[in-house]
Amino acid sequence: MNPDESTDFDRLVRELQQEIARREQELYSETVLREARNPQNMGSLPDADLYGAVRGWCGDSMEIYMRLNGGAIEEVSFTTDGCGATLACGSMLTQMLTGMTLADAEWVLPEDLVQALDGLPEENMHCAGLAVSTLHNALFNWHVAEMEQQGEED
Ligand code: FES
Repeated sequence: MNPDESTDFDRLVRELQQEIARREQELYSETVLREARNPQNMGSLPDADLYGAVRGWCGDSMEIYMRLNGGAIEEVSFTTDGCGATLACGSMLTQMLTGMTLADAEWVLPEDLVQALDGLPEENMHCAGLAVSTLHNALFNWHVAEMEQQGEED
């Protein structure tokens, strides 16, 4: 290969990468970029007390696992096959939930997550919705299991 071709190609790749980084910075807050590039609490949680899973209208899905200690969320994790913004949402939401009581977790709204991420572009608002819906699905499953258990005890 002609060494100039390789140089031109490398330069093109570098320029493209710079362009992508510039556009990402225009679209996303520093917090979103940080969480998306280094997501926290990713993966499943063996022996989770709570589990929720939701597929959003965009076709992406999220799972949330929580382990309790008393009434508090001791450990929480997530998985997703979604976009970078969804990674950031899962990462931030799981950090917000750690140490929170289940009662307080019921009140977490997509707006709270968006605020914690220092904003999201309009086209990614549904990613926050997917994350919070997954949380609420886990809480719903928990309540159903509790009611079933109570029914068995009565
Ligand atoms: Fe589907 Fe982000 S684009 S969850």
